[in-house]
Amino acid sequence: MSDKINILDYETVELDTDTNELVIIDQTKLPGNIEIVRLKSAQEIWDAIYLLKVRGAPAIGVAAAFGLYILATQIKADSFEGFYKEFVKNKEFLNSSRPTAVNLSWALNRMDKLACTMKEFSIDEILEALKKEAITIKEEDIAVCKAIGEYGLTLVKPGDGILTHCNAGQLATCKYGTATAPIYLGHEKGYGFKVYADETRPLLQGARLTAFELQSAGVDVTLICDNMSATVMKQGKIDAVFVGCDRVAANGDTANKIGTSVVATVAKHYNIPVYICAPTSTIDLDTPTGNEIKIEQRPDTEVTEMWYKERMAPEGVKVYNPAFDVTDHELIAGIVTENGIAYEPYTESLKRMKNI
Ligand code: MRU
Repeated sequence: MSDKINILDYETVELDTDTNELVIIDQTKLPGNIEIVRLKSAQEIWDAIYLLKVRGAPAIGVAAAFGLYILATQIKADSFEGFYKEFVKNKEFLNSSRPTAVNLSWALNRMDKLACTMKEFSIDEILEALKKEAITIKEEDIAVCKAIGEYGLTLVKPGDGILTHCNAGQLATCKYGTATAPIYLGHEKGYGFKVYADETRPLLQGARLTAFELQSAGVDVTLICDNMSATVMKQGKIDAVFVGCDRVAANGDTANKIGTSVVATVAKHYNIPVYICAPTSTIDLDTPTGNEIKIEQRPDTEVTEMWYKERMAPEGVKVYNPAFDVTDHELIAGIVTENGIAYEPYTESLKRMKNI
């Protein structure tokens, strides 16, 4: 029998170094079943990311880094050139699994950069270095999320009402989450936050994942439908909005789960600050504004059928299903990173956060 007590006792993403397998919680099965899956092939890893078995920008990055290492161990080559050709093929394949979260390409590029510095080394030495790098990416994520939590906690006070959208929780990272990190750290200190979790249509990350993990941690969490955020804001129940993000453009425009910009627009109306919690790895200074961020489009069936006992839309109806939207930087009160909180003008402050 498992000695694990709740979902937060499980690792979101793990590398089994004995078998060279990627070990994840299948998040499509939550909250009903905690199912651990082991992945080894390129297609299995790609599918797990595309199907959101592992999801959330930082967790995708860590999974991809482990995945690239695992696939590298399967390459049969006796020269660096032969090895690297296959390595790049694997990298490009994994990178094609989801387009919006920059952490995916960030982690893969970091692994690639390392491989490129090791042309003179043996394949075994390269593999050892790649394994270490992927493990470091995971360990850094834990420290980064904790630091985001500490900065984020300075923005709220005991008893505050906090609204969050989608899941930027532990399940989206390796520990603490980003948007949930201030909540978890405050909870440890007895802050008594009242958290409202948007259910987050169409894939219900708020209902299935955020409500689940916060409840497991003993946080006071209330689930609402996406169209109820204006009501709770108007009723004075919300003091701050904390959300995660998948890519921050150089001007502070931020892509996050579809519906985030609706929440931010309504929050502006009610004078409630919206804080984006983002590791600096999610800041993409090569993308000037939100207009250039590629938004993932997902299948119609997520809107028309998924989660329902029977189809809830007429056959053949046109469906538009963008997975993310862009919140304009004017709607954002601050971007909380592991290096501090960035404020307007973001073109300046984001560079400082990235230490450039
Ligand atoms: O489609 P998902 O579930 O991967 O979307 C996740 C989000 O939008 C999160 O808010 C974002 O990745 C930040 S996770 C710390």
